[in-house]
Amino acid sequence: MADVVKKMEEAPGILGKDDKSHSLLKKYLTPDVVNKLKNTKTKMGASLWDCIQSGVINTDSGVGIYAPDAESYTTFSEIFYPIINDYHIGFDIKGGAKHPPMDLGLDKINFPNPDPEGKYIISTRVRCGRSLQGYPFNPLLTEQQYKDMEGKVKDALNGLPGELAGTYYPLTGMSKDTQKQLIDDHFLFKEGDRFLEAANANRFWPTGRGIYHNKDKTFLVWVNEEDHLRIISMQKGGDLMAVYKRLIQGVNEIEKKLPFSRDERLGYLTFCPTNLGTTIRASVHIKLPKISKNLDEFHKIAAKYNLQVRGTSGEHSESIGGVYDVSNKRRMGLTEFDAVKEMYEGIVELIKLEEKS
Ligand code: ADP
Ligand code: ARG
Repeated sequence: MADVVKKMEEAPGILGKDDKSHSLLKKYLTPDVVNKLKNTKTKMGASLWDCIQSGVINTDSGVGIYAPDAESYTTFSEIFYPIINDYHIGFDIKGGAKHPPMDLGLDKINFPNPDPEGKYIISTRVRCGRSLQGYPFNPLLTEQQYKDMEGKVKDALNGLPGELAGTYYPLTGMSKDTQKQLIDDHFLFKEGDRFLEAANANRFWPTGRGIYHNKDKTFLVWVNEEDHLRIISMQKGGDLMAVYKRLIQGVNEIEKKLPFSRDERLGYLTFCPTNLGTTIRASVHIKLPKISKNLDEFHKIAAKYNLQVRGTSGEHSESIGGVYDVSNKRRMGLTEFDAVKEMYEGIVELIKLEEKS
């Protein structure tokens, strides 16, 4: 225990002296916050160190913190709340704000293809995360719990109707070639993510992990990677309306069968504070050669529309052949529908800018 307290006490100094570190953890983890929280634990036994270790080990993190269980968000609110406020622009959890109720907005959807000629958008994807009621997040799960959860999710997915019908493929026993192909084609999560690793989130890998997908790989569910479930709809081109409607259908069907954890103030619960609330990340793979020529500028332009730019293989990756992943950044303080709309409207503007440049 003394060792762990020492690590927490040293953390602000380690982050502070690393000029290359720009994480939200570095910004908000003051010695004062550490002193307040260093002797506290959640009922399930999570400490401040369990939350921050990934960001202290990986000083190049963008955020740097995860919640081992739901209670961590409130027990360690002195560090989580300022980070949530900063990331989810405009949402003031510190000031008492509540995430709004779910509104997928099926009746309001009107997102005509922003690129009908297919000049810019390569593919469109919308995902959301869900946690199963009664289970903590990765670092506190036992091997048996991983197996039980996988079984429950697999059973629920097995009965999905129509276009959503597919097969569950466990990672255990999957050939390395198949796994690599699925990752290269942007369908499957990568393996050995160092940020998750340092958060103790890859324990018992590959037990309990897997992917479900329909025949066309337009509807997919990741099981027990970063979150218990990641529900994904994706397809080539820019037809966001079709992609989002399929996601809604999938979420509604799965919610009939599995109970998910939701908090009155935080919305749907996830392992990382960046994913709380709606948990929605709507993205396009897009080529905008003119406005992305200067990458710093591109990030700034995107930020004006509350958009985040990632590389071709997702987070912490580089662009390949000028393809970027552009998505809504904030997921809390707005509805599901508005999160998707934020991405849509931003992309429409970015395409206009590209055409004018
Ligand atoms: P997440 O979506 O879970 O936040 P990542 O950023 O790691 O995580 O992305 C996961 C995978 O989804 C990566 O392979 C990434 O390239 C792929 N991806 C994201 N957006 C799109 C898109 N619009 N079209 C195709 N693949 C995408
Ligand atoms: N912990 C990583 C970082 O700070 C990832 C943060 C957000 N992404 C995520 N997949 N949760 O850079």
